[in-house]
Amino acid sequence: MDVVRSLEAFGRLRKSWPDGGPEVCLVPTMGALHAGHLSLVEAARKRSDRVVVSIFVNPTQFAPGEDFERYPRPLEQDLKALERLGVGTVLAPEAREMFPAGHRTRVLVEELDRKLCGLSRPTHFQGVATVVLKLFHLVQPRAAFFGQKDAQQTILIRRLVRDLDLDIEVVVCPTVREQDGLAVSSRNRYLSLEERKAAPVLFRALERAGREVALGERSGPALLAGVHRCLAAESRVQVDYAAIVDPVDLEPVDRLQGKSLLALAAFVGTTRLIDNTWLTP
Ligand code: PAF
Repeated sequence: MDVVRSLEAFGRLRKSWPDGGPEVCLVPTMGALHAGHLSLVEAARKRSDRVVVSIFVNPTQFAPGEDFERYPRPLEQDLKALERLGVGTVLAPEAREMFPAGHRTRVLVEELDRKLCGLSRPTHFQGVATVVLKLFHLVQPRAAFFGQKDAQQTILIRRLVRDLDLDIEVVVCPTVREQDGLAVSSRNRYLSLEERKAAPVLFRALERAGREVALGERSGPALLAGVHRCLAAESRVQVDYAAIVDPVDLEPVDRLQGKSLLALAAFVGTTRLIDNTWLTP
Protein backbone atom coordinates (compact mmCIF):
# COMPACT_ATOMS: atom_id res chain seq x y z
CA MET A 1 0.00 0.00 0.00
CA ASP A 2 1.37 3.41 -0.97
CA VAL A 3 1.04 6.02 1.75
CA VAL A 4 1.53 9.39 0.11
CA ARG A 5 1.99 12.54 2.20
CA SER A 6 2.97 15.07 -0.45
CA LEU A 7 0.63 16.38 -3.12
CA GLU A 8 3.41 16.46 -5.68
CA ALA A 9 4.20 12.78 -5.11
CA PHE A 10 0.51 11.95 -5.32
CA GLY A 11 0.24 13.89 -8.59
CA ARG A 12 3.09 11.82 -10.07
CA LEU A 13 1.47 8.58 -8.94
CA ARG A 14 -1.92 9.64 -10.33
CA LYS A 15 -0.37 10.44 -13.73
CA SER A 16 1.16 6.96 -13.87
CA TRP A 17 -2.29 5.32 -13.79
CA PRO A 18 -3.36 4.57 -17.37
CA ASP A 19 -6.75 5.77 -18.64
CA GLY A 20 -7.91 2.26 -19.50
CA GLY A 21 -6.86 0.84 -16.10
CA PRO A 22 -9.12 0.03 -13.14
CA GLU A 23 -11.59 2.78 -12.20
CA VAL A 24 -10.21 5.12 -9.57
CA CYS A 25 -12.48 5.05 -6.50
CA LEU A 26 -12.04 7.60 -3.72
CA VAL A 27 -13.08 7.24 -0.09
CA PRO A 28 -12.54 10.63 1.59
CA THR A 29 -12.13 10.38 5.37
CA MET A 30 -10.76 12.30 8.31
CA GLY A 31 -9.20 9.12 9.71
CA ALA A 32 -10.02 7.54 13.09
CA LEU A 33 -11.53 4.85 10.92
CA HIS A 34 -14.46 2.85 12.27
CA ALA A 35 -16.82 0.24 10.88
CA GLY A 36 -18.71 2.95 8.94
CA HIS A 37 -15.60 4.04 7.05
CA LEU A 38 -14.52 0.46 6.52
CA SER A 39 -17.88 -0.33 4.92
CA LEU A 40 -17.23 2.48 2.41
CA VAL A 41 -13.78 1.08 1.68
CA GLU A 42 -15.24 -2.39 1.22
CA ALA A 43 -17.83 -1.06 -1.20
CA ALA A 44 -15.10 0.75 -3.14
CA ARG A 45 -12.89 -2.37 -3.14
CA LYS A 46 -15.77 -4.47 -4.50
CA ARG A 47 -15.92 -2.09 -7.39
CA SER A 48 -12.27 -1.55 -8.15
CA ASP A 49 -8.69 -2.59 -7.51
CA ARG A 50 -7.65 1.05 -7.53
CA VAL A 51 -8.97 2.55 -4.31
CA VAL A 52 -7.61 5.76 -2.85
CA VAL A 53 -8.50 6.53 0.77
CA SER A 54 -7.75 10.08 1.86
CA ILE A 55 -7.08 10.80 5.51
CA PHE A 56 -7.16 14.48 6.29
CA VAL A 57 -8.59 16.23 9.33
CA ASN A 58 -9.84 19.24 7.45
CA PRO A 59 -9.38 22.39 9.55
CA THR A 60 -11.73 24.43 7.36
CA GLN A 61 -14.80 22.42 8.35
CA PHE A 62 -14.34 23.05 12.07
CA ALA A 63 -15.38 26.35 13.62
CA PRO A 64 -13.37 27.89 16.47
CA GLY A 65 -14.30 26.06 19.69
CA GLU A 66 -15.22 22.81 17.91
CA ASP A 67 -13.21 19.62 18.33
CA PHE A 68 -10.53 20.10 15.62
CA GLU A 69 -7.63 19.94 18.11
CA ARG A 70 -8.85 16.90 19.96
CA TYR A 71 -10.18 15.06 16.89
CA PRO A 72 -8.56 11.59 17.08
CA ARG A 73 -5.64 10.91 14.70
CA PRO A 74 -4.63 7.24 15.08
CA LEU A 75 -2.82 7.12 11.73
CA GLU A 76 -0.85 3.89 12.27
CA GLN A 77 -3.97 2.00 13.32
CA ASP A 78 -5.89 3.39 10.32
CA LEU A 79 -3.16 2.33 7.90
CA LYS A 80 -3.21 -1.23 9.26
CA ALA A 81 -6.98 -1.46 8.79
CA LEU A 82 -6.72 -0.15 5.23
CA GLU A 83 -3.89 -2.51 4.37
CA ARG A 84 -6.04 -5.44 5.55
CA LEU A 85 -8.79 -4.35 3.16
CA GLY A 86 -6.39 -4.28 0.23
CA VAL A 87 -6.39 -0.53 -0.32
CA GLY A 88 -3.74 0.48 -2.86
CA THR A 89 -3.17 4.12 -1.96
CA VAL A 90 -3.63 6.31 1.08
CA LEU A 91 -3.38 10.05 0.57
CA ALA A 92 -2.63 11.67 3.93
CA PRO A 93 -1.52 15.22 3.12
CA GLU A 94 -0.27 17.82 5.56
CA ALA A 95 -2.60 20.72 6.38
CA ARG A 96 0.04 23.25 5.29
CA GLU A 97 0.02 21.70 1.82
CA MET A 98 -3.75 21.39 1.48
CA PHE A 99 -4.32 24.89 2.81
CA PRO A 100 -1.08 26.84 2.34
CA ALA A 101 -0.67 30.20 4.04
CA GLY A 102 -2.79 32.76 2.23
CA HIS A 103 -5.42 30.37 0.89
CA ARG A 104 -8.57 32.36 0.30
CA THR A 105 -10.75 30.22 -1.97
CA ARG A 106 -13.91 28.62 -0.64
CA VAL A 107 -16.56 26.53 -2.37
CA LEU A 108 -20.09 27.48 -1.45
CA VAL A 109 -23.12 25.31 -2.13
CA GLU A 110 -25.58 28.05 -1.44
CA GLU A 111 -28.69 27.52 0.68
CA LEU A 112 -28.05 23.80 1.24
CA ASP A 113 -25.12 24.80 3.44
CA ARG A 114 -27.29 26.90 5.76
CA LYS A 115 -30.00 24.34 6.55
CA LEU A 116 -30.12 21.62 9.23
CA CYS A 117 -26.55 21.32 10.58
CA GLY A 118 -25.67 24.55 8.78
CA LEU A 119 -27.88 26.48 11.21
CA SER A 120 -25.56 25.80 14.12
CA ARG A 121 -22.41 25.21 11.99
CA PRO A 122 -22.66 28.01 9.39
CA THR A 123 -19.17 27.54 7.92
CA HIS A 124 -18.96 23.75 8.17
CA PHE A 125 -20.24 22.85 4.72
CA GLN A 126 -18.14 25.36 2.83
CA GLY A 127 -15.14 23.70 4.49
CA VAL A 128 -16.43 20.28 3.43
CA ALA A 129 -17.23 21.37 -0.14
CA THR A 130 -13.83 23.05 -0.49
CA VAL A 131 -11.80 20.07 0.66
CA VAL A 132 -13.93 17.56 -1.25
CA LEU A 133 -13.55 19.53 -4.48
CA LYS A 134 -9.78 19.72 -3.90
CA LEU A 135 -9.67 15.95 -3.35
CA PHE A 136 -11.76 15.38 -6.48
CA HIS A 137 -9.26 17.45 -8.50
CA LEU A 138 -6.24 15.72 -7.01
CA VAL A 139 -7.53 12.15 -7.23
CA GLN A 140 -9.77 12.47 -10.32
CA PRO A 141 -11.92 9.54 -9.24
CA ARG A 142 -14.65 7.87 -11.30
CA ALA A 143 -16.61 7.31 -8.10
CA ALA A 144 -16.47 8.68 -4.56
CA PHE A 145 -17.98 6.96 -1.51
CA PHE A 146 -19.77 8.65 1.39
CA GLY A 147 -21.90 7.44 4.31
CA GLN A 148 -25.65 8.03 4.63
CA LYS A 149 -25.14 9.09 8.26
CA ASP A 150 -23.89 12.43 6.91
CA ALA A 151 -27.03 12.83 4.81
CA GLN A 152 -26.77 16.60 4.35
CA GLN A 153 -23.14 16.24 3.28
CA THR A 154 -24.08 13.67 0.62
CA ILE A 155 -26.93 15.85 -0.70
CA LEU A 156 -24.64 18.86 -0.86
CA ILE A 157 -21.85 16.93 -2.61
CA ARG A 158 -24.28 15.53 -5.18
CA ARG A 159 -25.34 19.13 -5.89
CA LEU A 160 -21.71 20.27 -6.16
CA VAL A 161 -20.98 17.47 -8.65
CA ARG A 162 -24.07 18.38 -10.69
CA ASP A 163 -23.54 22.13 -10.61
CA LEU A 164 -19.87 21.94 -11.58
CA ASP A 165 -20.38 19.20 -14.23
CA LEU A 166 -17.97 16.82 -12.54
CA ASP A 167 -17.89 13.36 -14.08
CA ILE A 168 -17.88 11.61 -10.70
CA GLU A 169 -20.43 9.15 -9.35
CA VAL A 170 -21.35 9.85 -5.74
CA VAL A 171 -22.00 6.51 -4.05
CA VAL A 172 -23.84 6.68 -0.74
CA CYS A 173 -23.54 3.63 1.54
CA PRO A 174 -25.93 2.75 4.40
CA THR A 175 -25.31 3.92 7.96
CA VAL A 176 -23.51 1.33 10.07
CA ARG A 177 -24.99 0.94 13.55
CA GLU A 178 -23.97 -0.57 16.86
CA GLN A 179 -26.19 -3.40 18.14
CA ASP A 180 -28.34 -0.96 20.10
CA GLY A 181 -28.89 1.19 17.00
CA LEU A 182 -26.43 4.00 17.72
CA ALA A 183 -24.90 5.15 14.41
CA VAL A 184 -21.16 4.46 14.40
CA SER A 185 -19.24 7.75 14.57
CA SER A 186 -15.73 8.92 15.44
CA ARG A 187 -17.34 11.17 18.03
CA ASN A 188 -18.96 8.28 19.97
CA ARG A 189 -15.64 7.90 21.75
CA TYR A 190 -16.23 11.24 23.50
CA LEU A 191 -19.30 9.81 25.30
CA SER A 192 -19.11 8.86 28.98
CA LEU A 193 -20.56 5.49 29.99
CA GLU A 194 -23.87 7.08 30.99
CA GLU A 195 -24.02 9.18 27.83
CA ARG A 196 -23.28 6.13 25.71
CA LYS A 197 -26.29 4.41 27.33
CA ALA A 198 -28.49 7.41 26.55
CA ALA A 199 -27.32 7.93 22.94
CA PRO A 200 -29.36 5.17 21.20
CA VAL A 201 -32.47 7.25 21.91
CA LEU A 202 -31.67 9.05 18.64
CA PHE A 203 -32.15 5.81 16.74
CA ARG A 204 -35.28 4.95 18.72
CA ALA A 205 -36.76 8.34 17.82
CA LEU A 206 -36.10 7.68 14.11
CA GLU A 207 -37.59 4.21 14.35
CA ARG A 208 -40.63 5.52 16.10
CA ALA A 209 -41.28 7.97 13.27
CA GLY A 210 -40.87 5.15 10.74
CA ARG A 211 -43.47 3.08 12.59
CA GLU A 212 -45.90 6.00 12.70
CA VAL A 213 -45.53 6.50 8.95
CA ALA A 214 -46.18 2.76 8.43
CA LEU A 215 -49.37 3.18 10.50
CA GLY A 216 -50.52 5.99 8.21
CA GLU A 217 -49.28 9.22 9.82
CA ARG A 218 -48.42 11.78 7.13
CA SER A 219 -48.23 15.04 9.05
CA GLY A 220 -44.67 16.39 9.40
CA PRO A 221 -45.40 18.32 12.62
CA ALA A 222 -47.14 15.30 14.21
CA LEU A 223 -44.20 13.03 13.36
CA LEU A 224 -41.73 15.57 14.73
CA ALA A 225 -43.75 15.94 17.94
CA GLY A 226 -43.37 12.19 18.44
CA VAL A 227 -39.61 12.42 17.80
CA HIS A 228 -39.27 15.21 20.39
CA ARG A 229 -41.34 13.26 22.97
CA CYS A 230 -39.09 10.25 22.48
CA LEU A 231 -35.87 12.29 22.81
CA ALA A 232 -37.19 14.14 25.87
CA ALA A 233 -37.21 10.83 27.78
CA GLU A 234 -33.40 11.08 28.07
CA SER A 235 -32.34 13.97 30.29
CA ARG A 236 -28.74 13.82 28.99
CA VAL A 237 -29.96 14.54 25.44
CA GLN A 238 -30.59 18.10 24.21
CA VAL A 239 -32.04 18.38 20.72
CA ASP A 240 -30.26 20.72 18.32
CA TYR A 241 -32.79 20.12 15.54
CA ALA A 242 -35.18 17.51 14.26
CA ALA A 243 -36.56 18.08 10.78
CA ILE A 244 -38.37 16.31 7.99
CA VAL A 245 -37.11 17.66 4.69
CA ASP A 246 -37.17 17.17 0.96
CA PRO A 247 -34.11 15.11 -0.06
CA VAL A 248 -33.09 17.46 -2.88
CA ASP A 249 -33.48 21.00 -1.54
CA LEU A 250 -33.77 20.23 2.20
CA GLU A 251 -36.96 22.31 2.44
CA PRO A 252 -39.26 21.30 5.33
CA VAL A 253 -41.98 18.81 4.44
CA ASP A 254 -45.34 19.56 5.99
CA ARG A 255 -47.16 16.52 4.61
CA LEU A 256 -45.35 13.40 3.58
CA GLN A 257 -45.95 12.65 -0.08
CA GLY A 258 -42.72 11.30 -1.50
CA LYS A 259 -39.58 9.95 0.13
CA SER A 260 -38.46 12.46 2.78
CA LEU A 261 -35.48 12.70 5.06
CA LEU A 262 -35.95 12.78 8.82
CA ALA A 263 -32.71 14.24 10.15
CA LEU A 264 -31.74 15.06 13.67
CA ALA A 265 -28.84 16.41 15.67
CA ALA A 266 -28.61 16.33 19.43
CA PHE A 267 -26.09 16.96 22.15
CA VAL A 268 -25.51 13.94 24.36
CA GLY A 269 -23.69 15.63 27.20
CA THR A 270 -21.35 17.92 25.28
CA THR A 271 -21.02 15.64 22.24
CA ARG A 272 -23.08 16.55 19.21
CA LEU A 273 -24.38 13.51 17.33
CA ILE A 274 -26.36 13.33 14.10
CA ASP A 275 -28.53 10.63 12.60
CA ASN A 276 -31.25 10.30 9.99
CA THR A 277 -33.64 7.96 8.26
CA TRP A 278 -35.77 7.94 5.15
CA LEU A 279 -39.52 8.22 5.62
CA THR A 280 -41.45 6.70 2.73
CA PRO A 281 -45.24 6.90 2.78
O1 PAF B 1 -17.30 12.94 6.22
C1 PAF B 1 -16.13 13.28 6.50
O2 PAF B 1 -15.40 12.56 7.17
C2 PAF B 1 -15.62 14.62 6.01
O3 PAF B 1 -16.60 15.60 6.06
C3 PAF B 1 -14.97 14.55 4.62
C4 PAF B 1 -15.99 14.18 3.55
C5 PAF B 1 -13.84 13.54 4.62
C6 PAF B 1 -14.40 15.91 4.25
O4 PAF B 1 -13.43 16.32 5.14
